[in-house]
Amino acid sequence: MPAERLFRRQLERATRPDGSIDLDQLRQLVVAWYEDSARDRERTDRAITLMAEELEGANRRLEALVENLRVQNLRFEAALDNMLQGLCLYDRADQLVVVNRRYHEILGLPPGLLQPGISHAEQLSIEQAAGLHAGRDLQEMLEARIALVDAQDGPARAEIFTEDRRRLDVAAQRLPTGGCVVTVMDVTAERAAEARAAAAGRLTSLGEMAAGLAHELKQPLTAIALAAANARRAAERGDTAAALVRLGRIADQAARGGVLIDHLRRFARGGEGADANATADVAAAVDGALTLMGGALREASIELALALSPSLPRVRGDGMALEQVLLNLLANARDALASSRGGPGGRIAITACQTLEGPVVLEVTDDGGGIPASVMDRLFQPFVTTKGPDRGTGLGLSICHGLITSLGGRIEAENGAEGAVFRITLEPAPG
Ligand SMILES: Nc1ncnc2c1ncn2[C@@H]1O[C@H](COP(=O)(O)OP(=O)(O)OP(=O)(O)O)[C@@H](O)[C@H]1O
Ligand SMILES: [Mg+2]
Repeated sequence: MPAERLFRRQLERATRPDGSIDLDQLRQLVVAWYEDSARDRERTDRAITLMAEELEGANRRLEALVENLRVQNLRFEAALDNMLQGLCLYDRADQLVVVNRRYHEILGLPPGLLQPGISHAEQLSIEQAAGLHAGRDLQEMLEARIALVDAQDGPARAEIFTEDRRRLDVAAQRLPTGGCVVTVMDVTAERAAEARAAAAGRLTSLGEMAAGLAHELKQPLTAIALAAANARRAAERGDTAAALVRLGRIADQAARGGVLIDHLRRFARGGEGADANATADVAAAVDGALTLMGGALREASIELALALSPSLPRVRGDGMALEQVLLNLLANARDALASSRGGPGGRIAITACQTLEGPVVLEVTDDGGGIPASVMDRLFQPFVTTKGPDRGTGLGLSICHGLITSLGGRIEAENGAEGAVFRITLEPAPG
């Protein structure tokens, strides 16, 4: 209430009915009023001080929060920049929110060329101006990317080659909050190491097969020697017809040896150079593996049971790679049989059929007692072996795994009633 009105009220209260003023009462009223308002002021002052302190505290907390955020942000940026993968994060509207240094490095772009805030389409055209995506229709590219990501449950992956022949593994995934994350990884060195390991594995298999091969070649050579001796005798007798029959046999046997050596040569060279659209005949791969390994199995008196469905479709992938996988599995089964019985004998079964859903399932089983529990859950990792360093490299199954996944298939292992079961699932070739 304004001071003047208050004073008037005190004055009214101190005015006697006859209009005179009771000065004493007025003095008391004014003093009480003054004390009241002094207390009010004091309370207000205290409230203001408290509020100021509270505000200062809030300010300090806010500053600490901002500082904390700044440090977190720095850490986040440092982590992003030092990732092995290049990374781009897009929001719901397909705008670039985060891009790291590795992304620029891997794609050979000048540092800082891409900045958050641009759209995905703008990013593609900036990249094209910097020499990427040569000759590509960017709109088409963008639509293909979006369709690919939308069609997948998990990340959509692709391996692409850059102009300078590097191999990049690109993965894109929708985020639950909307938007999407794209990562790029340079896998050139990794793939080269895998190829070297596969080549080393092939040579190891070849070494292992030497004994079996010697046996395999000895048969045609013995037949040739015999037929040559017979042909000479027939010629000496002047029996041209008989000599010609023997010479024909020699030619047949020489051809058989030739097939074997040819096969060996193709195997040693490996499947590299096979194109991504290659298809393979499962039965032919089994046949090829047995051509190289059959002798060694027979020598170890191992019984072989073959059950290949007669109507197998061709599968996606390279026949030589499939053959190499089978050779590794057969060598492992042979080793397991030899060590479990401490001598010859045992049984290996190879079966193949097409499942109702389409894929072809190829199984190699043996009765060698099964895979040791100590290696079961690391079986497909490199250098895992129970054979000792002078006997096994422990690379066989990791190479098999790499080859089968590169064919777009799957390889799994379990222990059956009598021994190991290796199951390979392969996609049928299109068409
Ligand atoms: N059929 C099998 N039965 C039992 N154990 C097996 C069988 N196949 C593989 N294993 C186990 O898995 C391990 C790894 O096999 P892998 O082929 O990768 O290497 P390795 O055979 O030991 O060495 P390398 O292949 O160089 O000769 C083997 O050492 C063995 O213990
Ligand atoms: Mg092996």
